[in-house]
Amino acid sequence: MLLRLERGDVDPGIPGQFFMLEAPGRLLPRPMSLCLAPPGELAFLIDPTGPGTRALCAARPGDEIHVLGPLGNGFDLDVPRPLLVGGGVGVAPFPYVSEQLGAPPAALGFRSAWHAEAAALVPNAEVVIDPVLVTDAMPSGHDVLACGPEPMLEAVRTLAPDAQLAWEAPMACGFGACFGCVVDVDGELKRLCIEGPILCASSTPAAASTR
Ligand SMILES: Cc1cc2nc3c(=O)[nH]c(=O)nc-3n(C[C@H](O)[C@H](O)[C@H](O)COP(=O)(O)OP(=O)(O)OC[C@H]3O[C@@H](n4cnc5c(N)ncnc54)[C@H](O)[C@@H]3O)c2cc1C
Ligand code: FES
Repeated sequence: MLLRLERGDVDPGIPGQFFMLEAPGRLLPRPMSLCLAPPGELAFLIDPTGPGTRALCAARPGDEIHVLGPLGNGFDLDVPRPLLVGGGVGVAPFPYVSEQLGAPPAALGFRSAWHAEAAALVPNAEVVIDPVLVTDAMPSGHDVLACGPEPMLEAVRTLAPDAQLAWEAPMACGFGACFGCVVDVDGELKRLCIEGPILCASSTPAAASTR
């Protein structure tokens, strides 16, 4: 579901950064990648997998949603041959990335044709559906920006050791205060909300989970 919010004076930030969104009547916010930033709007692609995301998807026009961000580091867009690689709701940051990079090629994978409808938000994309893997649709020789479930990121990393990968960890605050998102990267503990969520494939967290 695409949740479209009035932007007000909120800065959309760099593609790959995220916002903490708090649904009406819920205490804990949830991290969401910015999907699109048309004039006056912030839009988020949300998969209703649990109570927080279901509450966000149930919001009605006029409801107030508390927004904190932009947070995290975002993708490095200064790459010569970008290729966007996304799996499932991991395509969420790519409409905004694609707009900023002038519609580079993308390879997107989904578990069903229904889920693949989200691919319409990303131009110039080759779309595959399970059991075909997104890595089968990945041309070589590109600077890969990837976001998706952990097995997909691991497979991407094997094919593209310099890829930028968007990782996920449980996040309570989003700005470095709670240490809920700490991951072990090459023996060093890092807060994914500050030093991520985008990490180079060569430095992979040992304790993060992914979208
Ligand atoms: C930086 C960052 C950016 C993110 N961007 C997005 C985004 O753009 N869109 C989006 O939909 N989500 C995104 N997520 C993931 C989302 O924030 C989490 O999935 C969140 O915990 C969901 O909250 P919830 O209360 O709905 O479910 P929770 O109570 O946290 O989880 C409920 C149940 O659902 C399971 N679950 C949670 N997430 C998933 C999942 N993704 N797939 C399958 N099962 C799951 C859990 O294991 C648990 O059993 C992002 C996470 C991070 C860290
Ligand atoms: S989410 Fe609180 S420190 Fe990262």
